[in-house]
Amino acid sequence: ATRIAVVVVVLALAVLAPAARGLRRDDFPPGFLFGAATSAYQIEGAYLDDNKGLNNWDVFTHTQAGRISDGRNGDVADDHYHRYTEDVDILHNLGVNSYRFSISWARILPRGRLGGVNSAGIAFYNRLINALLQKGIQPFVTLNHFDIPHELETRYGGWLGAAIREEFEYYSDVCFNAFGDRVRFWTTFNEPNLSTRHQYILGEFPPNHCSPPFGNCSSGDSRREPYAAAHNILLSHAAAVHNYKTNYQAKQGGSIGIVIAVKWYEPLTNSTEDVRAARRALAFEVDWFLDPIFFGDYPREMREILSSNLPKFTPEEKKLLQNNKVDFIGINHYTAIYAKDCIYSPCTLDTYEGNALVYAIGRRNGKIIGKPTALHGYFVVPEAMEKVVMYVNDRYRNTTIYITENGYSQHSDTSMEDLINDVERVNYMHDYLKYLSSAIRKGANVGGYFAWSIVDNFEWVYGYTVKFGLYQVDFDTQERIPRMSAKWYRDFLTSSSLTD
Ligand code: NOJ
Repeated sequence: ATRIAVVVVVLALAVLAPAARGLRRDDFPPGFLFGAATSAYQIEGAYLDDNKGLNNWDVFTHTQAGRISDGRNGDVADDHYHRYTEDVDILHNLGVNSYRFSISWARILPRGRLGGVNSAGIAFYNRLINALLQKGIQPFVTLNHFDIPHELETRYGGWLGAAIREEFEYYSDVCFNAFGDRVRFWTTFNEPNLSTRHQYILGEFPPNHCSPPFGNCSSGDSRREPYAAAHNILLSHAAAVHNYKTNYQAKQGGSIGIVIAVKWYEPLTNSTEDVRAARRALAFEVDWFLDPIFFGDYPREMREILSSNLPKFTPEEKKLLQNNKVDFIGINHYTAIYAKDCIYSPCTLDTYEGNALVYAIGRRNGKIIGKPTALHGYFVVPEAMEKVVMYVNDRYRNTTIYITENGYSQHSDTSMEDLINDVERVNYMHDYLKYLSSAIRKGANVGGYFAWSIVDNFEWVYGYTVKFGLYQVDFDTQERIPRMSAKWYRDFLTSSSLTD
């Protein structure tokens, strides 16, 4: 009898074991947002339709096509502008309750404030928002996802000119006014910590500025410009949040935040220098934007190292920032990387991260930090999800966090069969979500998760060579084909069955 009992217990454990390891939708709090994300330039196409103005990416991809891996651009992209109803159906079939997208500034204000509002642009986003709401999908709207009207670049020097702050405040006001009766979630900027580095240190994003030792561009000052641009972005953000909180929030009932790209930095060795380098990397990446918003100033590490190259906030600006705190923080998280000290120790600069003053690398003594993905420098390190969430949660006082992007990339030269049977993407999402649920169990205040992306799209300087979609897109026919990951996500979202 004892032996039978043991066998029964062992069998029961064997059946229950996957349950203990499994991931269920109801492992996440009630009301949790589960969605998918995109951005305007990456999917909309229709770059000249209905009076849209040219933006910085339209001009860049046309004048410097050689800087894009496949020489292509977002002129047509996923043709979402004309196919948005099909895309809303796809989202609905997946079972998501929210969709994160961005508004094209040049569609709303083709030439910035002076040119006036383009009613056809307003009408498009009204159609999209209404179609989403009809299917019970909450719009989660980004005001600025890398693209600005080209005229603002030529007239003010883009984010380097202080005049762009009023432009952004005006643009965001037009959007709150037009769409705010139906939008519950606003974010001002997407990943300004990453875009300014790509614009003004690596020289890869328009206006392609960089200077030695970071790179060799025709113009730029990488020691100063990224911080000057970030300063204007932070003050634009604060002005928009102030306006929203003062004039819209009470009657519209929505919330507003900002989205930051957050990598996890693991010290390469346990030497004090590398441990401090990893800490400094987070200061230069995350605290750079969130410290001013929460505490009214840049982090100590940045003030010390950059000294006069880091702009200063006036007492009024500090107040504006601190008195207009965000309601939530958006985190785009994909990967972790090793950090090796590059200030106090000898190092070479070939994969230098630029603004972090660390030497960020993927290998330690030949051992890689995680499986590489199609995007250079992005590795699969699921446990880092828990680490970044706990870091942001602890430093910024338990403010609600949304994971506004997370996803796995495949290279376009992958076989058709493997592109569709994307087991790696399924494992990636499963494992990252598992560590996210673990952060929540440890007390982190997380309100939602968005997969990047619903469809393959224009991956900036990688063009269409890097694919992030839950749906594959045939760019000749615009056919959307569900990958295995789309089915997995739908099963996870629409049933509470085990997904292990
Ligand atoms: C970050 C950006 O917000 C998005 O535009 C990009 O496509 C993904 N991450 C993947 O690189």
